[in-house]
Amino acid sequence: TPFCLQLVDEIDSTNRSLRQECAVHGTVLAAEWQTAGKGRLGRQWIGSLGGSLLFSVVWRFSGGMTRLAGLSLALGIALTRALEKKGYQGTGLKWPNDVLCPKGKLAGILIELSGDALGPVDAVIGIGLNLRLSPEERIHADHAADLSDCSGPSPERNALLAAILNELADILPRFDQDGFAPLRTEWEARHLWQGEQAKLISADGKESRGRIIGVAEDGALRLAGEDGLKVAYAGDVSLRKV
Ligand code: BTN
Repeated sequence: TPFCLQLVDEIDSTNRSLRQECAVHGTVLAAEWQTAGKGRLGRQWIGSLGGSLLFSVVWRFSGGMTRLAGLSLALGIALTRALEKKGYQGTGLKWPNDVLCPKGKLAGILIELSGDALGPVDAVIGIGLNLRLSPEERIHADHAADLSDCSGPSPERNALLAAILNELADILPRFDQDGFAPLRTEWEARHLWQGEQAKLISADGKESRGRIIGVAEDGALRLAGEDGLKVAYAGDVSLRKV
């Protein structure tokens, strides 16, 4: 799929805009600035004027909703592959789809789906990557890091966007065909919290603790708790170290 790229100075949210327009497969919208950037779990996403890459991609998957388990993890792989190819070291993944460097969170991914159980599913995939945050933005955005925290060249925004789109063009059709299973080993190799003690917090505030032992073939997180193995799906859950 050739991507069709649109660039704007300011928008409320690239995800929201593409959803509202019902933009077609392959549309990419990148913004210099978002006035209402959205993060996962209803959080806000803070970008930096000139120092962030903020964009969304529309992709139509052939499967049904259930075949999209693991999509967020596949996208994390695409981002870290692109960063690695551009010469940044020490980046890795946190389940389900944060890209981290040792200092904190470098990038986030927000996926919004529409479709049904059997038919094609349209995904709006939003990516926010911090290139250079100002000191104030670092304080506002909890645990945020930027590319200056990773060893590597000084970031060039257009080249980074191109590198990420290349990786997406590679991974998305494969994922549509084969799902997450073939990517599982690579995901675990890039996973920074493998073996860590962590707690999983669901939307209703329930916590479950355990040691992270990896991910399943459908992208579910596997935790070894006191009362046995637990499996969690990326939905309205967040994960913290304990
Ligand atoms: C997260 O909470 O980790 C996901 C953050 C996703 C942010 C990006 S920035 C571009 C796109 N537009 C939005 O409103 N959100 C996503």
